Amino acid sequence: SAPLRIGLIGFGCVGQGLYDILQQQPEAGFEIARIAVKNPTKARTLPLNRFDFRADDLLQDASLDVLVEVIDDADEAFRLVREALCQGRRVVTANKAMLARHLPELVQLQQQTGGTLLYEAAVCGSIPVIRTLDAYFGAEPLRSVTGILNGSSNYVLTRMGEAGADYAPALAEAQQKGFAETDPTLDMGAFDPRSKAVLLAAHAYGAFLNPDEVLNLGIEGISAVDIAFAASQGQKIKVIAGLQRLPDGRVTVLVTPQLVGPESPLYSVDDEFNGVVIEADFAGEQFLRGRGAGGHPTGSAVLADLAALRQGFAYQYPKAAEAPEYASDLEVEIYL
Ligand code: HSE
Repeated sequence: SAPLRIGLIGFGCVGQGLYDILQQQPEAGFEIARIAVKNPTKARTLPLNRFDFRADDLLQDASLDVLVEVIDDADEAFRLVREALCQGRRVVTANKAMLARHLPELVQLQQQTGGTLLYEAAVCGSIPVIRTLDAYFGAEPLRSVTGILNGSSNYVLTRMGEAGADYAPALAEAQQKGFAETDPTLDMGAFDPRSKAVLLAAHAYGAFLNPDEVLNLGIEGISAVDIAFAASQGQKIKVIAGLQRLPDGRVTVLVTPQLVGPESPLYSVDDEFNGVVIEADFAGEQFLRGRGAGGHPTGSAVLADLAALRQGFAYQYPKAAEAPEYASDLEVEIYL
């Protein structure tokens, strides 16, 4: 069959990663037909005539089978994804901050227009966690989902645990390797893993949370002394996103630095790796681990979404009400 024609919007770390992956596998059946970028003067790895400079031109191109949105700007990403779904298109995005703010609306829009939106790359880079929760555990109640969802802060904590490494150079290294967000506060202040936790809650529990109502504490206040103290107790400090079902059925979500001991599979999740422990009522404990950031791992998740779209896959939000909306205070309680 003819290759799937992709309109790629954004050519940063993830866009470039997807491009490289597809270049290396011409037989995979995906063709990047058009690439839209914002800045015509920035130095690129491809000739200038390969680019469009108006993303809206791609939205208007009916010959494109799928739109892949991998830009930084959450507001512009929302505008583009919304418009594409209004047209009933198939769309892949990696924009976790945008999704966490607008998920109920985007889900309802798909129900109205028949469009499809996938976003495996938005959570934990290469780890197939969204699809695991949505499809595999769609019918099984989950006790908890606990994870390291941010590669950059985990990288910094890991470096700081090594003799003599400081916060600032460790952060610079994460930025240089392409793990960090443009605004590093999002990583270090745990706003980025909070967005991801909100997305996990939608698939694991059918709970659509307002990210502003989820507590997030970052690692800016953590010093090498704290890490050394944890190590002296046989533990590590990790930024843990915890989603838990309470006995009365309510769900709690919070993202905070915590002490993790070797009894947890998350203890050995270091560097830019992410890990997720799923506690299911009948399956028991499952552990997923993989690269949580970087162009190729995240591009690989976009590739997985493209393959899934080709097979007709769409998220079911199996635990959500028919018209998802933000949970009220009564249904969700955040506690420390
Ligand atoms: N800045 C993010 C991280 C990139 O460090 O995990 C992947 O979402």
